[in-house]
Amino acid sequence: MILARTGWTDPRTFPRIVAHRCGGALAPENTLAGLRLAAQLGIGAVEFDAMLSADGTPWLIHDDTLERTTGGAGRVCGSHDADLRRLDAGSRHHPSFSGEPLPTLAAAAALCRQLGLTVNVEIKPAPGFEALTGETVARHALELWRGAALPLLSSFSEAALRAARGAAPQMPLGRLWERPPADWRQRLGEIGAIALHCAAGQIGDDVLAEARAAKVPVLCYTVNDPSEADRLFARGVSAVFTDRIDRVGAASVDFA
Ligand code: G3P
Ligand code: MG
Repeated sequence: MILARTGWTDPRTFPRIVAHRCGGALAPENTLAGLRLAAQLGIGAVEFDAMLSADGTPWLIHDDTLERTTGGAGRVCGSHDADLRRLDAGSRHHPSFSGEPLPTLAAAAALCRQLGLTVNVEIKPAPGFEALTGETVARHALELWRGAALPLLSSFSEAALRAARGAAPQMPLGRLWERPPADWRQRLGEIGAIALHCAAGQIGDDVLAEARAAKVPVLCYTVNDPSEADRLFARGVSAVFTDRIDRVGAASVDFA
């Protein structure tokens, strides 16, 4: 397998700080406003979640349902694009973001390319749509980042990652677990994933040593305290996902 060269496949450009859900503390999560703010604060890399609508279009949203982050109601996979396009994804965060749209993956990709952001798309399938979501997100990502550095696609769903691999053999993939299982290396190898993603509180020094020896970067979520980020970097973690890009980003600049 020959992977495309991206910020994620070259150790010299591998990001240290990744804005989680576009940096969802200062701006509404998974929005274009978040991407703009991350770029303004000098954060070079972002993570966001992509889920399919009833029309099979990838949209940026974390939950299966619309209620928590938007003015809509019901399941994302049961909603049509025409309805999602009308939603306000900003007001629930703060009234000053009223009118912020729910973005499609296409809109986010265009803005990330314009802003020069390195991207991790987390494939977030609704239950039962794992393979379709993986395949669709990978196919769209190949097209949307054509001629540019490809994003890293990650998922908790192995079925989604297998489908992504099938659709885009050159795509860099990351495998997400809350806690890495004992056979994590073998399972990364089976899908050709280049990175291990897990919860910051669940990473052991044994896994970090094994990852270092195998030259597999470890990315940890969600780290909102700068001293925790520094402790993780000192233990060998390659990058952290943070909602607090103002705190963790600023405190860790010297680490890059
Ligand atoms: O991709 C890292 C992190 O985003 C995984 O958890 O639930 O915030 O998508 P979640
Ligand atoms: Mg995520």
